[in-house]
Amino acid sequence: KKRVVSGVQPTGSIHLGNYLGAIKNWVALQDTYETLFFIVDLHAITLPYDTQQLGKATRDTAALYLACGIDVSKASVFVQSHVRSHQELMWLLCASTPIGWLQKMIQFKEKSRKEGGENASAALLIYPDLMAADILLYQSDFVPVGEDQKQHLELAREIAQRMNNLYGGRKWKKLGGRGGSLFKIPEPLIPQDGARVMSLTDGLSKMSKSAPSDQSRINLLDSKDLIAGKIKRCKTDSFAGLEFDNAERPECNNLLSVYQIVSGKTKEEVKEECKDLSWGTFKPLLADALIEHLSPIQARYQEITAEPEYLDKVLSEGADRATELGDVTMRNVYQAMGFYPRW
Ligand code: TYM
Repeated sequence: KKRVVSGVQPTGSIHLGNYLGAIKNWVALQDTYETLFFIVDLHAITLPYDTQQLGKATRDTAALYLACGIDVSKASVFVQSHVRSHQELMWLLCASTPIGWLQKMIQFKEKSRKEGGENASAALLIYPDLMAADILLYQSDFVPVGEDQKQHLELAREIAQRMNNLYGGRKWKKLGGRGGSLFKIPEPLIPQDGARVMSLTDGLSKMSKSAPSDQSRINLLDSKDLIAGKIKRCKTDSFAGLEFDNAERPECNNLLSVYQIVSGKTKEEVKEECKDLSWGTFKPLLADALIEHLSPIQARYQEITAEPEYLDKVLSEGADRATELGDVTMRNVYQAMGFYPRW
């Protein structure tokens, strides 16, 4: 079976962008592929964070994965820091990653600027190496992510190729290994709809956990009233009727797209249904569709968090399985890189 991996950072609350861009699509993949889904807690410490919150946020994010439909009889779910080889492989990848590749990452540029440039942590710079390790460790075929992770994925592919060139093939064979490529080159899976969910207060910036205003996003655990209120107050425009794909109407395109996905309708159906609607009629429709889609997830979330032992067991079994798979790659990488083995 081909292998799929992905993860979300346990920072802030998981929002509609994380769900429509990533988690919802993971659910669709678990029947066809061998899947590993992790909570990337090690990525969450690259910016200043609250030690009192990290553990809780990690557990809550895991509970949300299951609530969204990740089925642990099919997928392995685990915490990144529970599988040590992610960090081990990261270091080995760092040694073959030119600093220039890291410095040109858009997310690094944006986030380090916010941290005041030179004050940004070294971890923020090497973050993409950790992400590459998350993926390459499992010889993954596909990585389902939102649009904003495309550049990091591209970098992971380049790092894999470079490692294969430097250490794979005949060189590895000479060292007693099997030769051939060390790492599989992963492919991104970016959904057709939902890859870039935009802010409710500005249709030109993406919905994000770090935006200061909570009004700009729908969190998966927002109450019905909160969702209805956020939709009621969200930014719109003064054109007549509603339409997709008009560059002058980014908010309209975003809200229709969200409506399309959560209602399970086709783009054609939504186009037809909404072309003559006013914002005043559409907004309650959208709010209801969101509430209807999110309510069962919230109910399952309550059930899962009421049983912490169950979740801990799931995460522990997931980490065992991941450790087993990752160890195979680590043995090969150490050998191919010429390290002296311990007997
Ligand atoms: P993170 O935690 O920022 O986001 C998690 C997932 O949500 C997607 N996403 C969005 N999709 C659509 N619209 C949005 N507004 C939106 N905002 C976020 C992201 O694309 C992502 O798929 N570095 C990654 C996590 C990571 C990872 C990995 C992913 C670490 N290691 C290995 C895949 C494989 C991150 O910070 O995602």
